[in-house]
Amino acid sequence: MASALKSTTLTKAYRWGGKSHEALRGVSLEVPKGAILGLIGRNGAGKTTFLRIASTSLLPTSGKMEILGHDVVDDCVAVREQIAVIPQESRPFYWMTPRELVFYYLTMRGHTQKDARARADEALGELGLGEWENTLVGRLSGGLRRRAMVAMVMASDAEMLFLDEPTTGLDPVARRSVWEAVRKAARKNRTIFLTTHYLDEAEALSSRLALLDKGQLLASGTREFISQKVKHPYRVVVEGGFTRGELEGYGDLTWLEDRWMIFTGEKEAREISRLALERGARLSLGPVSLEDIFLQIVGKDITKDETEEAEVAGA
Ligand SMILES: Nc1ncnc2c1ncn2[C@@H]1O[C@H](COP(=O)(O)OP(=O)(O)OP(=O)(O)O)[C@@H](O)[C@H]1O
Ligand SMILES: [Mg+2]
Repeated sequence: MASALKSTTLTKAYRWGGKSHEALRGVSLEVPKGAILGLIGRNGAGKTTFLRIASTSLLPTSGKMEILGHDVVDDCVAVREQIAVIPQESRPFYWMTPRELVFYYLTMRGHTQKDARARADEALGELGLGEWENTLVGRLSGGLRRRAMVAMVMASDAEMLFLDEPTTGLDPVARRSVWEAVRKAARKNRTIFLTTHYLDEAEALSSRLALLDKGQLLASGTREFISQKVKHPYRVVVEGGFTRGELEGYGDLTWLEDRWMIFTGEKEAREISRLALERGARLSLGPVSLEDIFLQIVGKDITKDETEEAEVAGA
């Protein structure tokens, strides 16, 4: 399948205070066309730096990156023609209305006025901005302003969308409207590159995940593929029937006031279930959440070698 994004040992070092600060340390990542990639990582992991290089607003220090087959440095104009971006913490112009914002953004991108009007109608409606479309942005709440930004890029016909924390500060209903707009864009085979701190959002939206930590890609692939790579893919909670000593050997054990929680492997999870059944202990068992996976990986439970394997396998 053709790649929408391909980076090869990409590095970025910022120079300040007489020193070099490495924000990206050799990131190799491939995202197929039509995917929704959720890039996750802690503050300062390098997500925005990576997204800015991909969207041609920042030069890499070394390595290569291609977007839809075009080099982001040598062929940046061709890249810009095919992408739309919401930068982190960007704000729309205060002296325009959401309708004007979307309309002028589209006409600047080359849409006819008629097409821009029709697209603006659709995007503003989708993001629940109909009631506010003619109110000056300066009079809107922070969440509504953010939604106006999302409406702008969603209304475009860009092949690839870069959204840096698009839902930060949005209420739960507005978040869902952004999710729906993202899914709709993906159904039209557009590629979405999204960063988020909401792991439920990454889980609900992404067809692929990439986990950055301190400028390094620790894991990438589908959710299922990444969860198979962690040491403890199951979470078991038992109430009664066991002592600490009995459970300790099975994995990572935590006491939750009235019950035990264990992160463990499949074989061990089965064994505990069997024992719990015999002893009449209450038990719940399931695959680990993305948050658990994140903690296990950032805690370096999987090694760098396994990550490289994940990328090659392209699960
Ligand atoms: N313009 C800049 N000049 C110097 N250093 C920078 C600049 N932008 C980012 N950095 C540094 O690069 C590293 C990565 O920052 P980046 O903004 O890419 O992280 P992030 O993963 O997007 O974090 P967050 O989740 O907080 O948005 C950090 O150590 C940061 O201090
Ligand atoms: Mg950021």
